[in-house]
Amino acid sequence: MTTTSSGIGSPFVVLREPVQSVQAALKKLSDDWYEGLVRDGTYTRDEVHALAAPRKKVSWVPPKKKLFGPVTFVAISGDRVIGGVDLYQNQRDGYWFLEQMIRDQAPGFHGVGKPLYDAAVAWLVSTLQGGYFELRVHSLNKEQRSLRFWTNYVFQRSPDFRDAFVKSRGKTFDAVYWISRHRNESSRLTARLRSD
Ligand SMILES: CC(C)(COP(=O)(O)OP(=O)(O)OC[C@H]1O[C@@H](n2cnc3c(N)ncnc32)[C@H](O)[C@@H]1OP(=O)(O)O)[C@@H](O)C(=O)NCCC(=O)NCCS
Repeated sequence: MTTTSSGIGSPFVVLREPVQSVQAALKKLSDDWYEGLVRDGTYTRDEVHALAAPRKKVSWVPPKKKLFGPVTFVAISGDRVIGGVDLYQNQRDGYWFLEQMIRDQAPGFHGVGKPLYDAAVAWLVSTLQGGYFELRVHSLNKEQRSLRFWTNYVFQRSPDFRDAFVKSRGKTFDAVYWISRHRNESSRLTARLRSD
């Protein structure tokens, strides 16, 4: 199994191949994180329930029959899942997006996020065999940690768009997103040969 990246504190590896049957472990990490956001006043408990509600309108998520995924990437430490991210394709609009990136909040697991992102991109590059693809990541405006992570550690720029949202139980949560576009050398070459 190919892996990448070791943590500086506690040792971890990010698996380059998607895995299954880890949703419960990732949900536990995510639930703990949202508990913290209630404790620090970022969200009320009602807001967290609204965000978790199954019937909600998420501007970037199409109807179920037009949604492919999740393809899940994880970081492990020993035999424990300590982080992960879900990759989906919006088959109505043609783009891929990442959802629910999370890690164990212990300081030893700092730095898991970027290799998780890289694993998803590498998988898309190899699965789509060099074809063009667009990958989006979103952050709710209230989630400062997430905004800082994507801005500073992945894209080194402010969000590209600010018109995303989640609507649930009468509440609206505004969101921003970044788009990264990927076209590898072989498809660039093909495009050039076609245009010659
Ligand atoms: C998104 C997430 C998984 C990214 O984890 P991460 O890669 O550790 O990045 P974080 O932003 O948490 O931590 C970055 C900090 O770790 C430090 N850091 C980054 N890489 C590091 C490394 N390799 N070794 C040690 N420290 C590192 C940085 O200095 C930074 O500290 P600073 O913000 O004070 O400058 C994590 O922030 C998380 O679980 N967030 C909660 C859920 C969330 O917001 N998800 C995104 C919504 S889609």
